[in-house]
Amino acid sequence: MNSIFTRRSVRKYLDKAVEPEKIDRMLRAAMQAPSATNQQPWEFIVIDDRRTIDRLADFSPYAKMLPGAPLAVVILEKQDMRAPLFTEQDLGAAAQNMMLQLVEDGLGSVWMGVGRGTEREAFLTEMFALPETVKPFGVFAIGYPADENANKFVDRYEETRVHWNKY
Ligand SMILES: Cc1cc2nc3c(=O)[nH]c(=O)nc-3n(C[C@H](O)[C@H](O)[C@H](O)COP(=O)(O)O)c2cc1C
Repeated sequence: MNSIFTRRSVRKYLDKAVEPEKIDRMLRAAMQAPSATNQQPWEFIVIDDRRTIDRLADFSPYAKMLPGAPLAVVILEKQDMRAPLFTEQDLGAAAQNMMLQLVEDGLGSVWMGVGRGTEREAFLTEMFALPETVKPFGVFAIGYPADENANKFVDRYEETRVHWNKY
């Protein structure tokens, strides 16, 4: 899958809406992820409303790309799951699936971390009036890359990180 190697964080976007079928594929890819006991601890807020995306930019000092993005997603972590120790890992897999599908469809995205118990979590909880049953896991800015070389391969392979048969 070439998109694994070409996916990069894209922070500048064309002023072009993301087609509904691509949004649908992105969400289907996310929900196709593996999860502990198949618990699927995810929900998604999809945001294409300009003013809401602009307000979302205030959730973090590292979210300045949001006002330029035509689309944003907040991945939510459902609470009270069967295997709570593994929900973050499940959500990481869903997030990566989502980002890779976006690359397949010619789009770019950037993942912005929230962090449990942080001010960012409090901001998002208030902004979307989230119930106690869900917590924000990550925010994603999405759009067509303004730079055509945006999703560009960089080699991160490091042989020293690989251990065969023993550490
Ligand atoms: C959990 C997580 C949190 C991140 N938070 C931010 C962020 O707040 N703002 C941002 O611009 N990039 C953020 N990134 C993107 C990373 O900076 C980026 O993935 C990393 O530098 C590697 O570059 P690449 O995505 O282009 O391969 C985050 C990535 C992850 C996985």
